[in-house]
Amino acid sequence: MKSIVVLVSGNGTNLQAIIDACETNISNGKVTAVFSNKAEAFALERAKKAGAAGIFLDPNDFDTRDAFDQELMRQIDEYEPTLLILAGYMRILSGEFVRHYMGRMINIHPSLLPKYPGLNTYQRAIHAGDEEHGTSVHFVTEQLDGGPVILQAKVPIFDEDTVETLTQRVQTQEHLIYPMVTKWFVEGRLEMRDGKSAYLDGTLLSMYGYAEE
Ligand code: GAR
Repeated sequence: MKSIVVLVSGNGTNLQAIIDACETNISNGKVTAVFSNKAEAFALERAKKAGAAGIFLDPNDFDTRDAFDQELMRQIDEYEPTLLILAGYMRILSGEFVRHYMGRMINIHPSLLPKYPGLNTYQRAIHAGDEEHGTSVHFVTEQLDGGPVILQAKVPIFDEDTVETLTQRVQTQEHLIYPMVTKWFVEGRLEMRDGKSAYLDGTLLSMYGYAEE
């Protein structure tokens, strides 16, 4: 069984989608531990309900980002993860942390990368008058939201959309694509090479990730 560790800061709907997928169609993967930098994250309840460890690590207990990340790494590694998943983890990672998990750490970001890295992607897409928005699963590198894209999902933006309605539409897609990418990885079908390219079944993915015609 391959160990999956998930980092969260909030509700954990993506975590739940991955937990559910591990119980149904990811037969060789299991979420063993979930770490949060927020005590009140509902994701910790979801973890415990699923029989995984749910651990809050308080950033205020550490003097520096590096010290926090070193302790986080130490605790994560006790679960010997094959894959480390960022699922709404809203904290910048230190370079040492990223390098330690390079090639086995993925993130989901609510935009069609490389468009809109960073925060407030929904507001930015609506404000810009975009006709579509979406979400991207990518390998994590030291460039914020800049690692190679694995899979994207697009949704339309309608005139009457608000941040809330658009968020809901995008998250529905997230709950489909994040478990799918998780399955690819634990089945050994997905890899990052040279710190900059994603490959699925040995085939180089485009800058927008896997695309089926
Ligand atoms: C997700 O929509 C994810 O795309 C976003 O946080 C949300 C977490 O929701 N991630 C980022 O913004 C990372 N930059 P969840 O806690 O319900 O899974």
